[in-house]
Amino acid sequence: MKIVLVAAIGENNVIGRGGQLPWKIRSDLRHFRALTLNKPVIMGRKTFQSIGKALDRRTNIVITRDQDFSAEGVETAASLEAALALAREDAKRSGANELMIIGGADIFAAAMPLADRLEITHVHASPEGDVYFPAIDAKHWREDKRKNREPGPDDSASYSVATYLRR
Ligand SMILES: NC(=O)c1ccc[n+]([C@@H]2O[C@H](COP(=O)([O-])OP(=O)(O)OC[C@H]3O[C@@H](n4cnc5c(N)ncnc54)[C@H](OP(=O)(O)O)[C@@H]3O)[C@@H](O)[C@H]2O)c1
Repeated sequence: MKIVLVAAIGENNVIGRGGQLPWKIRSDLRHFRALTLNKPVIMGRKTFQSIGKALDRRTNIVITRDQDFSAEGVETAASLEAALALAREDAKRSGANELMIIGGADIFAAAMPLADRLEITHVHASPEGDVYFPAIDAKHWREDKRKNREPGPDDSASYSVATYLRR
């Protein structure tokens, strides 16, 4: 079962500010949806709260240390390992072949050594932020493909989408 990290990162590795994304790129949200649809998605509690609801047509697994946390449409896990175990069971049931890790910063950092692939949107901007994606170390990752995307009418920056595979 492949483990895939999906992130949009600035040129300064920023991924968020004040609990939100530091850019508005609607077309990348469609890209995110296409990558994750029908697969289990694993996220930290703050990322879930920033999205505000369970993502449709995906099993949502939220990592939290708060044993009382619950929200409609999500399963909870007390650690990344527990979340991966839940996601593997779910994927076996549904026939999905990948588990998608969708943030935030600590979850990305903990999951990166376990990941097989990174699906990265490189946003062509360096906004201020308070959470960061870990460095993509060329010793461990090779860029497999990259496509430039011009901003649409609702997008605040141009960007490229890149796939990295573990060496
Ligand atoms: N650009 C992107 O691709 C992207 C993707 C995702 C998120 N974001 C942005 O990132 C920010 C949110 O991310 P964040 O890094 O602040 O928070 P986060 O990783 O989404 O959530 C942090 C929370 O997850 C739980 N957690 C983390 N590690 C844990 C562990 N090892 N065991 C148990 N629970 C654990 C804890 O929840 P409890 O406090 O409940 O115990 C912790 O407070 C927002 O600004 C969001 O917009 C950006």
